[in-house]
Amino acid sequence: MNAHNLTKHDGQITPFDRSTRNGHDTCVVWFTGLSGSGKSTLAFALEEKLFSKGIQVFTLDGDGIRLGLNKNLGFDQNDRSENLRRIAEVTKLMNQAGLVVLAAFISPFDADRMMIKHIVGSDKFVEVFVSTPLEICAERDPKGLYKKAVEGTIPEFTGVSSPYETPLKPDISVDTTNTSTDEIVKTLEGIVLKKINWND
Ligand code: ADX
Repeated sequence: MNAHNLTKHDGQITPFDRSTRNGHDTCVVWFTGLSGSGKSTLAFALEEKLFSKGIQVFTLDGDGIRLGLNKNLGFDQNDRSENLRRIAEVTKLMNQAGLVVLAAFISPFDADRMMIKHIVGSDKFVEVFVSTPLEICAERDPKGLYKKAVEGTIPEFTGVSSPYETPLKPDISVDTTNTSTDEIVKTLEGIVLKKINWND
């Protein structure tokens, strides 16, 4: 911690004021899984569903954040940890602003997922393990990254030359190999609506 002599100053608008205006509470749906497993596809499809109902929702995803806020970070274990710490703090702020946040990041290490849950608050946190197997992700290879990783031109690539620690107790596991986006999104929508106390 390098910051000292700081005093937090809160405003008069409470979380209750914001949820009353929006008509719902907030939560975080955290998608973890290998590159190409379907995290962002599911998050953006769920976002559309929730948005069309009038819910205040926003999606954060790996490539997007790494092109902006976290463009000074790489993929060793420390940088991944710092990447996820910043995203968790941003997520917390977005929650405080009244938004439902959908976050799609590989988040391969158990310790980092625990840190994220701690930062955003365990009561708000829904962990979705996108468990699509490595063989399928590598076969899909939507960005051509697995090919490069196997050839050795991308170091520390998750699933190839860097580990992915399988979540031990996710709130839900979903596999996009044989289940459609629509079907999975329907299940996730149900979980979110309950979590944010949404009344149709
Ligand atoms: S995380 O491990 O820190 O959670 P994050 O989700 O932000 O990763 O970024 C993953 C995305 O970065 C991948 O979808 C892929 O497009 C790209 N990427 C580039 N290099 C790597 C790498 N070495 N390992 C994993 N993903 C990489």
